[in-house]
Amino acid sequence: MPIIFKSPSDIKPSEITSESDYQNRRQFIKQSAVLLGAAWAGRIAMPVSASGNDFPGAIKTSYGLNEKQNSFEDITSYNNFYEFGTSKTDPARNAMHFTPRPWTVTVEGEIANPGVFDLDDFIKPYQLEERIYRLRCVEGWSMVIPWIGFSLAEMIRHFKPTSRAKYVEFTTLYDPERMPGQKRRVLNWPYTEGLRIDEAMNSLSLMSVGLYGKTMPNQNGAPIRLVVPWKYGFKSIKSVVKIRFTETQPVSTWNKTAPDEYGFYSNVNPDVDHPRWSQKTERRIGSDFWQPKIETQMFNGYAEQVASLYTGMDLKRYF
Ligand code: MTE
Repeated sequence: MPIIFKSPSDIKPSEITSESDYQNRRQFIKQSAVLLGAAWAGRIAMPVSASGNDFPGAIKTSYGLNEKQNSFEDITSYNNFYEFGTSKTDPARNAMHFTPRPWTVTVEGEIANPGVFDLDDFIKPYQLEERIYRLRCVEGWSMVIPWIGFSLAEMIRHFKPTSRAKYVEFTTLYDPERMPGQKRRVLNWPYTEGLRIDEAMNSLSLMSVGLYGKTMPNQNGAPIRLVVPWKYGFKSIKSVVKIRFTETQPVSTWNKTAPDEYGFYSNVNPDVDHPRWSQKTERRIGSDFWQPKIETQMFNGYAEQVASLYTGMDLKRYF
């Protein structure tokens, strides 16, 4: 992402919609209309998908049911994951043999119940759900992804933060043998990110372990990653091994790398340009190249759920 890049308006072959995509989209619109009639708010107790489902216990929710989802191929072939290389196709190729097991998650800092947990034990207490979220990259492209995951708020409650816990910091695995991109100092490894605790407690914040009903593909952040859909994609840190509750604001990797370009908050905001390009529009990956770009929405379209987190804040200053 950010520093080494091509123009955000570059169009990749993978962005051109095929005839079958087009037909699927028409079919999808019909199906969505029916589903939307059935439910809008809240969870629907339905299995996630009929066949090839790695998460039979996950429940469907109404999040994003009205969206045209990107294909599994789009989502797994056009990635930002610098631990596996800096081009969009590197992660799929270079993460192919990555083994995200065994995997532990360390939870520490200002909480009553710290510990080091095997991934399965870490996930066990929570209800898995499917949520279809828009992901808007700071580079100017976006996708719609059906994630499988659980509420970060539920996880935080489980660990009982102390009154001093004001922020949550997340850290990616550091293992240059398994993540060869870390042999190059393109970033200050390990990748870290952070949220204010009320942002982390917002009902949209998700810890994700899969997509399209499948275990998380390596290139998308196996085995567990964060998804915060109202912020630029780089806040959604992949392959998390540590979650730390802190009193002071954590320093995130991109903020440290280029503080003038990537703020701590990084909320999607069409009114605050990146210093080197506009953030007013975005290209939906998979859309026909002759189609106009779409307008970027404030908080990526999730203002109703998150705007109150920033009441009274100057979002140009706290970008
Ligand atoms: N997490 C880590 N550890 N390393 C990364 O390079 N890239 C970020 C984010 N999480 C990144 C990361 C960026 S810039 C984006 S846009 C999203 O992951 C992309 O997620 P996706 O590949 O699943 O679409």
